[in-house]
Amino acid sequence: MFSLEGRTALLTGGAGGLGRAMAAALAQQGASVAITDLRPEAATDVADELAEQYPAQAFAGVSMDVTDESSVTAGVAEATKAVGSPDIVVAAAGIGELQPIAEMSFRQWRHMLAIHLDGTFLAIRHTVNPMIERGWGRVICFSSVASLQGVARQAHYAAGKGGIDGLVRSFSREVAPNGVTVNAIAPGYIESPLNDLAPPGRIEALIESVPVGRFGYPSEIGALAAYLASDEAAYLTGQIISPNGGFRYCHQLGD
Ligand SMILES: NC(=O)c1ccc[n+]([C@@H]2O[C@H](COP(=O)([O-])OP(=O)(O)OC[C@H]3O[C@@H](n4cnc5c(N)ncnc54)[C@H](O)[C@@H]3O)[C@@H](O)[C@H]2O)c1
Repeated sequence: MFSLEGRTALLTGGAGGLGRAMAAALAQQGASVAITDLRPEAATDVADELAEQYPAQAFAGVSMDVTDESSVTAGVAEATKAVGSPDIVVAAAGIGELQPIAEMSFRQWRHMLAIHLDGTFLAIRHTVNPMIERGWGRVICFSSVASLQGVARQAHYAAGKGGIDGLVRSFSREVAPNGVTVNAIAPGYIESPLNDLAPPGRIEALIESVPVGRFGYPSEIGALAAYLASDEAAYLTGQIISPNGGFRYCHQLGD
């Protein structure tokens, strides 16, 4: 079950904490993988490690800035040349930032939306047509508990993720007849560099508010992505799935 043999995946933000775990999980199931990122050296490191482990599959590290349409089209073209046209697209590029709306500049607001919302749109827009033509595809986007529950000082981040939720629910209906599924993973707190911005004490307080009693492991997100990418997940589309250890955001603990 869950074999991805013969499939090709493209990840944005593929050199990040969750990106590399998902690249590894997709590779383990047999996929060839293009790891795209704003940090091309880090993306190439991930690709090289996987190529050593899975010599029969193709891997490439590719430079891509998801906020820049010409960079996305060039990155998709380079990835397609290196590993093949993607059947699976994972839009995981992202940044975190804590900033109250009362102190937020318009530039900060726009930048957050550009990476998360525009970046997800551009990654999808420039990869979906070949999937539709082949009659098979998997689109995996990234939302967050910030969108589902709200997090103080992350209104811009939550707004971007909320936009992605709407995109996923609507776009999934457009391509469902073409064998393309579209879902979002909306993690709670996962061990990754994204959470390095947490002020002292916040991580401990957040862990206390997770019933499972810990942050999630990146490999747990990798396993979910591999399942969503599989043939077995063909009936699952338009969903926002939240692996979060039972977390319910609690203002007093989190802030
Ligand atoms: N880690 C968590 O706890 C958590 C929780 C909820 C949602 N998420 C979401 O999961 C996704 C992955 O997060 P992560 O934990 O791997 O974060 P991360 O910071 O470890 O990785 C993010 C990656 O995105 C890349 N990136 C940033 N800006 C980019 C741009 N303009 N173009 C291309 N790449 C860019 C970075 O270089 C980095 O490699 C993000 O969308 C994040 O919002 C993460």
